[in-house]
Amino acid sequence: MSKPVILTGLRANNDLHIGNYLGALLPLVDMAKNKSGDYQINLFIPDLHSFTTPIEHGSLQATIMQNLKIFAAAGLPLDNPDVFLYRQSYIPAHSELAWILDCFAGMGEMERMTQFKDKSAAIGNDRVSVGLFNYPALMAADILLYDAAYVPVGDDQTQHLEFTRDIAERMNKQFGELFIIPKPVKEQHEFFGKDQGLRIRDLQDPTKKMSKSDASAKGIIFLTDKPDEARQKIMSAETDSLGEVQYDYEKRPGVSNLLDMLKLLGGDGQPFIGQNQYGPLKTAVADRVAEFLTDFQTKLAQVDEQAIDQKLESSETKMNEAANATLLKVQKAVGLR
Ligand code: TRP
Repeated sequence: MSKPVILTGLRANNDLHIGNYLGALLPLVDMAKNKSGDYQINLFIPDLHSFTTPIEHGSLQATIMQNLKIFAAAGLPLDNPDVFLYRQSYIPAHSELAWILDCFAGMGEMERMTQFKDKSAAIGNDRVSVGLFNYPALMAADILLYDAAYVPVGDDQTQHLEFTRDIAERMNKQFGELFIIPKPVKEQHEFFGKDQGLRIRDLQDPTKKMSKSDASAKGIIFLTDKPDEARQKIMSAETDSLGEVQYDYEKRPGVSNLLDMLKLLGGDGQPFIGQNQYGPLKTAVADRVAEFLTDFQTKLAQVDEQAIDQKLESSETKMNEAANATLLKVQKAVGLR
């Protein structure tokens, strides 16, 4: 019996920051460590998705390698035989299945996708790409090719997961048991824990999450920041005028964010609770962040690129086999073979 599959896409992103690290990377690395053995873990770079909105194409290759190195530095177990690491575009079946799914997806259901609506409103309808519109069909192919049961994604992606279930059920109804349907969102949450992916806030505006789309970099700690620079950013973090350290995101979002960062980086905020000055807490967080960055950047410099290349190559060979088997079933069902 093959192991049930957990699958997720690691969006290639330049300028990863500590919010990405604590909120997304670390939970994924922990998941890969804890669930392997009982599960097969598919982690892939959705490189075909990466230019559904405009990017700098000349640096895509470098960005992908940098991201993979960051995952390795964060502790992703490259030598674990249950963990597969691959690039979407190296497995042509993703594109081929996406086209077939496109022909069974309705314009109406695709137009209702909130990510498309939000992004196209921001870009303007003339320049928004057809690729962005089609995004969910390619994502459904990513999932269905490997019979994935569990798909850890952020809240912004749950609608795409629902779409994947819908289109898989629709095709199963028409053609017989073609696809394994991924678990419903509720079961995904039960499986991964609902508070997975805690949101670290912007240091200058702690009412919103840390995001690289923010114009000022003062509220963001990038993984490549110099430790002293990061220390400065923590020391000038926005707090409040209440003058007492309490964990309370309603009234004290800045202080609560600092307490969360401290805890996630292995520190202890408890001794600061009730203090009527913020300086000591800030200093403790600044120290911890600087220490973390020093350590992380050392590990990153030591990552063996060759080990990553080997992992990609062996995973992509196996994944092509698995994906092609599913694709052939679908091609037969729709009359192409
Ligand atoms: N859309 C996901 C994101 O933006 C990335 C992604 C692409 C993905 N294909 C996927 C995630 C398949 C899970 C499964 O984060």
